[in-house]
Amino acid sequence: MNGPVLHVVGTRPNFVKAAPVVAALRTSGCEQVLVHTGQHYDERMSAVFFRELGLPEPDVDLGVGSGSHARQTADLVVALEPELTARAPAVVVVYGDVNSTLAAALVAAKLSIPVAHVEAGLRSFDMTMPEEVNRRLVDQVAEIHFATSPEAVGHLSREGVDPARVHFVGNPMIDTLLGHLDRFDPAAARTAHGLPGRYGVATLHRPANVDDPQAAGTAVRALRQAAAQIDLAVPLHPRSASALRAAGLEDTPGIHLLEPLGYVEFMGLVRGAAVVITDSGGVQEETTVLGVPCLTLRSTTERPVTVTHGTNRLVRHDELAPTLHKVLVGEVTPPVEGPPLWDGRSGARIAGVITRWLECHG
Ligand code: UD1
Ligand code: UDP
Repeated sequence: MNGPVLHVVGTRPNFVKAAPVVAALRTSGCEQVLVHTGQHYDERMSAVFFRELGLPEPDVDLGVGSGSHARQTADLVVALEPELTARAPAVVVVYGDVNSTLAAALVAAKLSIPVAHVEAGLRSFDMTMPEEVNRRLVDQVAEIHFATSPEAVGHLSREGVDPARVHFVGNPMIDTLLGHLDRFDPAAARTAHGLPGRYGVATLHRPANVDDPQAAGTAVRALRQAAAQIDLAVPLHPRSASALRAAGLEDTPGIHLLEPLGYVEFMGLVRGAAVVITDSGGVQEETTVLGVPCLTLRSTTERPVTVTHGTNRLVRHDELAPTLHKVLVGEVTPPVEGPPLWDGRSGARIAGVITRWLECHG
């Protein structure tokens, strides 16, 4: 099959996952096109990742931007269709579970262009999460599934996906982490933000935690109790900034509110942290590999391997303070063995599968 490999990215977790795949395909001499949908567009949510991760300039930025789910997904679909039609790729590679991922998979499938899904098969079994809707639908139309964990392989198998189409390749987000590890400087990041020697990091942006004022109030109460035990650096996702501020987060002693951070600085802070409190998908994985205790303020995770083979624990808001205490006094120890194949070579595995697939379909 002729035509380039076309990657669609739109949000900051997409950029972190795509970087090692794009780099590995470049090494194998593959023709590539990088389409940025513009779902994330602030310099701190987008451009900084391209600079720091060595991603090439996108071939096109569709500038779709923000909106309600329906509006944003519809705008993405409309903007992507002419782009995919004109570029006639051999395969479209999509990442994770955001609206850009769903829109790209849908457009490609309707144009009969094969879709490769990186991070296929994750399931939280919570259909109130927009990401769960997106990832299930994408997996329905994908031709090639790249799984980051054995659980994901199992979910795809139970949903009837042909095992020949599923490739357990490890985690490209961890390729990025390991590839840039030497640049993560906890002391510099801590000093830049006036943090004491022992500190934690907190990130919250899931709609269930921040979208309605009551949920934001509950989250802020939990973070206040945590900040009474340890200073917390809180880089605010733009989605959550106003809700968490309105719920009183900025007036809390021990809370250091920050703008969204660039990847290298953020990972520097995380690497040096005594604990991370989060509802992020990627951060559960990154803390697992860095060996930093992670308390996830959610009732489910689509990444259970970070609990069984990592540092992650799911906590209710009322459990945060007592669990944090146990972490800080060293009562919580992580498993000895990390997740399988999270070894920094996922991008090369994905590139290998794609290039073989292109040869077979050429
Ligand atoms: C999206 C993904 C989520 C992912 C997160 C990663 C969906 C449905 N959600 O959530 O799965 O975990 O990205 O960060 O795709 N905004 C800005 N500047 C930006 C981008 C967004 O100010 O550069 C603000 C806008 O007010 C926007 C809001 O953030 O309405 C939400 O952005 P959106 O892309 O819709 O979803 P996220 O919450 O970022
Ligand atoms: N991240 C960053 N700066 C921040 C917060 C996050 O560089 O201030 C990085 C980090 O690598 C994280 C990734 O962006 O794993 C995705 O973050 P986010 O929590 O927004 O998305 P999710 O993984 O929940 O979809």
